[in-house]
Amino acid sequence: MGGMAVGLHTLDDFDLRGKKVLLRADINSPLDPMSGEILDTSRIKGYVQTLERLKDSKVILIAHQSRPGKGDFTTLRRHSEVLNRLVKGRVSYIDDVFGSCAKKGIDSLSPGEVLVLENMRFCSEEVSKRICGRPPIEQAKTHLVRRLSSYVDFYVNDAFAVSHRAQPSVVGFPMVLPCCIGPSMEREITALTKVLKSKETPKVFALGGAKADDSFLITKNVLLKGVADKVLLSGVAALIFLMASGKDIGSANRDMVKDLGYNELVSEAGELLKRFKGQIELPVDLAFEDNGGRSEASVDGFPDKKALDIGAETMKVFSKAIKDASVVIAKGPAGVFEINGFGLGTESILQSIADSKSLSVIGGGHLTTVAKRAGLRDKISYIGSGGGATVSFLSDQPLPGIEVMKKSGGGEQ
Ligand code: 3PG
Repeated sequence: MGGMAVGLHTLDDFDLRGKKVLLRADINSPLDPMSGEILDTSRIKGYVQTLERLKDSKVILIAHQSRPGKGDFTTLRRHSEVLNRLVKGRVSYIDDVFGSCAKKGIDSLSPGEVLVLENMRFCSEEVSKRICGRPPIEQAKTHLVRRLSSYVDFYVNDAFAVSHRAQPSVVGFPMVLPCCIGPSMEREITALTKVLKSKETPKVFALGGAKADDSFLITKNVLLKGVADKVLLSGVAALIFLMASGKDIGSANRDMVKDLGYNELVSEAGELLKRFKGQIELPVDLAFEDNGGRSEASVDGFPDKKALDIGAETMKVFSKAIKDASVVIAKGPAGVFEINGFGLGTESILQSIADSKSLSVIGGGHLTTVAKRAGLRDKISYIGSGGGATVSFLSDQPLPGIEVMKKSGGGEQ
């Protein structure tokens, strides 16, 4: 049986020749805000090997791009064109998820062909908080899962990067279809399990980026479980904790935290700071835009300006913590690196990781993009395909998309 290392069924366990295989992929990619062009196609390239393994099957690829309400929430047409170039004309695309056009497209597939369906998150069931809060067996009752599962024979989850989301396309299908994990998911689980099992200490988590709810949950989880010795916070999560610690970060930042819906996290952040004194490291200074350039100020006297990066003093503190660590796990950029001059904090964190002798894992498209740009990619021990998913896995937190495969037909009985 394949996948013994992770206790899950893999493609080695099944003969899928001629079968209609529903492949959950994660090709969520950074897009140019003006042209909509895909800026980094690495996630798409990552599926060439998987499609090669499935070359005798009829593949129906399902995936998402961004989230409703965000500027890069769009169709998967461009993604399918990139994939088509990579696998030499075997890929077609249809702007439907589970309607009659999707069914017609699926029925007309021949072995070796790939059909990319429309962005799963165009379908309201995939993003409904009420539905995603339900157990997998309930999510399998959605129209999305009932209809699409009736058109296919088998489900493969090869989307590690979205496996921390309990959404119908991730947890619903394994309840009603025979299933297994895909090859890139298998490689990722095997590599990350080695890091998770490492007994080396100190273990440091460096969490940044705009998805502060993810960073908050990870911080709480790794400290409560004793997985992390220290958490270095930057990005929006740092602002929440700074507010909780009583620092005046100015109305521009307070409003941003409120507008993003994170105000409710402030009081719990205060409790975590008290309980884990000395283990949560917050920025001591931050950078802001000043007359078209970069200025920095201490968090004890911060002007009413949007914080766009960590400051030089913080970089020194974080750098020392990283160099002293045996294991470093990082997710999300420290600042808005897309704006010229505000990538310094992120580069400094990555440079410290590269200079240290620690076992290191970074996750998430943004951090990986900066690592590539700074020529540091090869100095990181492992680059995870997902941000939230990679770090959640390394926090010893069960990922819904993997757990459901163990409980359904997809795992060893
Ligand atoms: C990612 O890019 O981390 C995954 O595709 C998950 O995206 P999400 O955070 O929008 O669910």
